[in-house]
Amino acid sequence: MVEEIKERFFEDLNSAEDLQKLNAIRVKYLGKKGVLTAQLKLLPSLPPSERPLVGKLINEIKVLIEKELSSKEAFLKEAELKKQLLSEYIDITLPGKYTPFGSEHPLNKVLAEIIDIFIRMGFSVEEGPEVELDYYNFEALNIPKEHPARDMQDTFYISDEILLRTHTSPVQIRGMIKRTPPVRFIAPGKVYRCDADISHTPMFHQVEGLMIDENVTFSNLKGVLVTFIHLMFGQDVPVRFRPSFFPFTEPSAEVDMGCILCRCHGCRVCKNSGWLEILGAGMVHPVVLENVGYDTERYNGFAFGMGVERIAMLKYQIDDIRLFFENDIRFLRQF
Ligand code: DAH
Repeated sequence: MVEEIKERFFEDLNSAEDLQKLNAIRVKYLGKKGVLTAQLKLLPSLPPSERPLVGKLINEIKVLIEKELSSKEAFLKEAELKKQLLSEYIDITLPGKYTPFGSEHPLNKVLAEIIDIFIRMGFSVEEGPEVELDYYNFEALNIPKEHPARDMQDTFYISDEILLRTHTSPVQIRGMIKRTPPVRFIAPGKVYRCDADISHTPMFHQVEGLMIDENVTFSNLKGVLVTFIHLMFGQDVPVRFRPSFFPFTEPSAEVDMGCILCRCHGCRVCKNSGWLEILGAGMVHPVVLENVGYDTERYNGFAFGMGVERIAMLKYQIDDIRLFFENDIRFLRQF
């Protein structure tokens, strides 16, 4: 009888392929209503002389079954772990998913270059808001409400007193109010004008520059700007200053560099003049210094402003400003 149980147990054990089935076998043999328990319950009905022997046999087989079950359990657990590890296997030698690299936008590239040049000349970098007060954009820069110079810039007004800045010059005012002289910074940023054609976009970038100290001269201004143009476009590029007008500088100048496309011989881009205008500049108007509470007896200085798109167009020979903002990947990939 006991031998038979043993035999059936081993048959069952061999057919158990997973832990669930193994557990069922455990219940079948060792459970409360299991085969061995049933045998134990029969003991009292046996003649007393046989009871010790049968009891011993049943006990032995119980120990055996427990041992076999636990070794099979260990085996199945190990097999299941192996199976799981295999199913979660990652081949790290497979090539990864291709993520296309972006490239730096040509405007950011040129902007970084401009900033770097001025930092090397001792300028720091200042920022100001794009949504600006009429006061900083115009009034404080010596452009009163009815001044005809306001016509030079097609302003996006948000309300009577609030607008999108039309140039980076308001940062001059904000920067000076924050400091006491000497002052030397540039202010790069976005500006807005209601204008759109092949050389104008409603949003574009400028870099403003300002230097205030004792005894600043127009020669200092020339030195800084010529150095900038030479570092940006090459040492042999000719530079000239033409008298001009800006309400916030006196005297004022526009700065031209020799056309790099035709080497000053005259072409479509320089309108056959051989020259390209790239900067506005001048000595800061005393009224502007007074507006920020600087002592005009002691301090003076220069300011300049340039368009980043224009410089990038010249540097990379791009003939339509709108290309910068269309995000055509074929255009952007070239930089
Ligand atoms: N703000 C002028 C513009 O947008 C550029 C400019 C000219 C800035 C002369 C200056 C300057 O600081 O001195 O057209």
